Amino acid sequence: MSMKYSDIKERLKFEVVKETENNLAYLTHYFQNPKNGVSKYYKSNAEKQLYKIYDKLDFVEEPNFQAYLPIKWDIPFPPPKKAKFEFVDLFAGIGGIRLAFQNLGGQCVFTSEWDKFSKQTYDANFGEVPFGDITKINEENIPDHDILAAGFPCQPFSIAGVSKKNSLGRAHGFLDATQGTLFFDVARIIEYKRPKAFLLENVKNLVSHDKGNTFRVIKETLENIGYNIHCKILDGKHFVPQHRERIIIIGFDTRVFNREENFEFPKMPEKKFAIKDILENNVDPKYTLSDKLWNYLQEYAKKHKAKGNGFGFGLTDLSGISRTLSARYYKDGAEILIPQEGKNPRRLTPRECARLQGFPDNFIIPVSDNQAYKQFGNSVVSPLFQAIGKEIINCIKKQ
Ligand SMILES: C[S@@+](CC[C@H](N)C(=O)[O-])C[C@H]1O[C@@H](n2cnc3c(N)ncnc32)[C@H](O)[C@@H]1O
Repeated sequence: MSMKYSDIKERLKFEVVKETENNLAYLTHYFQNPKNGVSKYYKSNAEKQLYKIYDKLDFVEEPNFQAYLPIKWDIPFPPPKKAKFEFVDLFAGIGGIRLAFQNLGGQCVFTSEWDKFSKQTYDANFGEVPFGDITKINEENIPDHDILAAGFPCQPFSIAGVSKKNSLGRAHGFLDATQGTLFFDVARIIEYKRPKAFLLENVKNLVSHDKGNTFRVIKETLENIGYNIHCKILDGKHFVPQHRERIIIIGFDTRVFNREENFEFPKMPEKKFAIKDILENNVDPKYTLSDKLWNYLQEYAKKHKAKGNGFGFGLTDLSGISRTLSARYYKDGAEILIPQEGKNPRRLTPRECARLQGFPDNFIIPVSDNQAYKQFGNSVVSPLFQAIGKEIINCIKKQ
């Protein structure tokens, strides 16, 4: 007998309501990994929870739930039927990298993301609730995997983050005790688990931060733990109508590849994209800027122009591409505004933001507009990561 994932959720009164909730992570990771030797990491905790409601579970015949519970995944992006490789998704956000790697046949064996609302989006689409704070996760409890993916937080490295922190008199980069050190959590897990390869992603500005010192430390740390590193800044504009440059750091285990992986970053397709191709029809008037906000943005831009700097709103040429969508888009939408005839410009809808990052339209957006803007602004141009992932897999296959 099998059961739909949505029915199981309903019967278990399954809801992500707390940042620190890991029980649902155990349970869903257990459901996702039935036959690959990974479930041992999750089994005892998952079963404890299933026991709590055992009397309600009339659909299972004995305590070995998994053997009797082939789940019908009624979610948009279920795990592959036959996995070609295994990966982990750290700082997972809403799964832009997971989507890319699943499309390549990858089975995700572990996920971490601490934001409650991102977890809700992740579960609605992938049927899995990520574990929380990565700093509290013991590397021994992470299953083996071929590829580790991590888009570690960029606040301490981005220009906006740095100038704001400078003005607040706060440290940034590795001196920022809460954010900058997260890179070392990534390094700690790589060193212990020794994936064949990893893929790290961050803002372009990471390369020049602190006169290149931050990036040098990152590279040296990864080289010292025995990985051969390949880095490149790539722009999402080759896959979607958005200018989005990111530094991509790929590493291959020297013990496995002996520096002979022959990895090359994918060639960027020449295709030109236009923002008008991702716009929705009949957009709700709530996305049109109020007179007050539109006047404010115009005044603000004038002031900055007079001072000789180029800040301001980005009224988009519909036949061209947009500026980079950021996590602060929910505030005023200033960086990407859509002109409208006879009306004030409007901001993008959450669905248009999803498209701007290359998410297909069946990607479920279960959260408020504000949360959705933050989530898509933090995410990645997923098809770019699929192209990069393909090259990594090719190297692993050859090896
Ligand atoms: C740049 S975003 C990565 C987004 C992701 N690549 C995607 O496609 O959506 C970084 C993510 O790290 C999460 N994060 C920050 N600190 C964390 C921590 N200590 N443990 C787990 N997740 C954390 C943030 O909530 C954020 O979603």
